Amino acid sequence: MRWLKLRRHPEQIRLWTENKRFAVVYSGRRSGKTELAKRRLVLGLQTRKKWPDPRYFAAAPTRAQAKRIFWKDLKALTPLQWIKRIYEADLCITTQMGSELWVVGLDRPQRIEGAPWDGGVLDEFADMRPHTWAENIRPALSDRNGWCWIIGVPEGINHYKELVDYAASGEDSDWGVYKWRSSDILPAGEIDAARRLLDPRTFRQEYEGSFEGKAGRVYYAYDAQRHEDKTITLKVHLPVILCCDFNVGACVWEILQTDGRAVWVVDEIVFQNTNTVEMGKEVLRRWGHPLAGFIVYGDAAGSNRTTAGKSDYALLQGLGFKDQRIKRANPLVRDRINAVNAMLENTDGAVRLYHHPGCKMLRKDFETVVWRDGGGEVNKGDVERTHATDALGYFIESEFPLSLHRPDPLKRFYK
Ligand SMILES: Nc1ncnc2c1ncn2[C@@H]1O[C@H](COP(=O)(O)OP(=O)(O)OP(=O)(O)O)[C@@H](O)[C@H]1O
Ligand SMILES: [Mg+2]
Repeated sequence: MRWLKLRRHPEQIRLWTENKRFAVVYSGRRSGKTELAKRRLVLGLQTRKKWPDPRYFAAAPTRAQAKRIFWKDLKALTPLQWIKRIYEADLCITTQMGSELWVVGLDRPQRIEGAPWDGGVLDEFADMRPHTWAENIRPALSDRNGWCWIIGVPEGINHYKELVDYAASGEDSDWGVYKWRSSDILPAGEIDAARRLLDPRTFRQEYEGSFEGKAGRVYYAYDAQRHEDKTITLKVHLPVILCCDFNVGACVWEILQTDGRAVWVVDEIVFQNTNTVEMGKEVLRRWGHPLAGFIVYGDAAGSNRTTAGKSDYALLQGLGFKDQRIKRANPLVRDRINAVNAMLENTDGAVRLYHHPGCKMLRKDFETVVWRDGGGEVNKGDVERTHATDALGYFIESEFPLSLHRPDPLKRFYK
């Protein structure tokens, strides 16, 4: 039976019993937002209306995501004797009472816009487009006085925060806001694991439902006192890892080693107006032929062909750098940065990333790269900046990812 009994939680009960027309739930990861929303949807299917076909939606930013989050569970939660038909291709359940439950992705908002709705849920709302609510959803709820739950973990100061502020202002009694911490629901061991993995700001955002602003330094977890280490030397039993970022102007590569737990950046190569072959030769000149070999990581864009006809990685291959671990597409900038910050310091204060004082570009990036005013974007005003941290970030994100944006109840929140 899918209807497992939930522990009593006062804020969850408030959400349930206040029964506001519009409810915003911005609690932490794995705190039960989606589970409650699924139950609300299924129970709603039996509500009698003046029309024969009450219609409800379970929506997420994309159709694939919506299917992954909702489809199996909604089928399992709907009592068998209620079900009239299940449309697998359309992701729709129709009931004997005449009601319909649709799983939809807002990558195609037309699905929602066309017809009137009696209620629905928007999950992972922070990842939806800013105007989704006002333009696509709210109007579709007018005809039938439909309800909506808007749920998801915060993500910076964005449209989600605006909606929470509006709902919390009390100006509009249709609205309610609800929040509780992941630690109220998740076992302590899971919370501890997240603390070890995440930097403090990401932890607050993801597990305590906090809207964390992006202002000031991007790599705020960096402190030269803690992260610079002049005793770092090459460990012969570990491979030498090359992190590449390709640029026409300043070209910066970082050289590092890892034992799978900590990362030591041993060196960096900085050339102006150079090319990939020159950079590769410099690596060989400095580090020769290490016993455990080289491994190359870097910008996925380097796989495109250069003006010389070959891709940057093909050129490196030609120089003997055969072990290359390049992603087909680059990760989201925010995921890359969060992963680097988490290595600089986790919520428990532990450091897992160190660099040699010789890595001056890296230190300068860590200390001076800032967010652009008011936005979630990195300020790229200085042409010398971000090459070192970009290069390093491709490696960190590959080998030490946070995998937070994976709202799949069957999967754990970390690797
Ligand atoms: N009050 C509760 N007592 C016990 N378990 C609960 C309670 N509320 C939710 N859960 C359980 O917690 C788990 C996580 O719930 P859910 O997937 O809804 O989290 P979420 O908040 O949507 O997380 P995410 O942000 O990762 O999507 C589910 O297995 C659910 O059954
Ligand atoms: Mg969820």
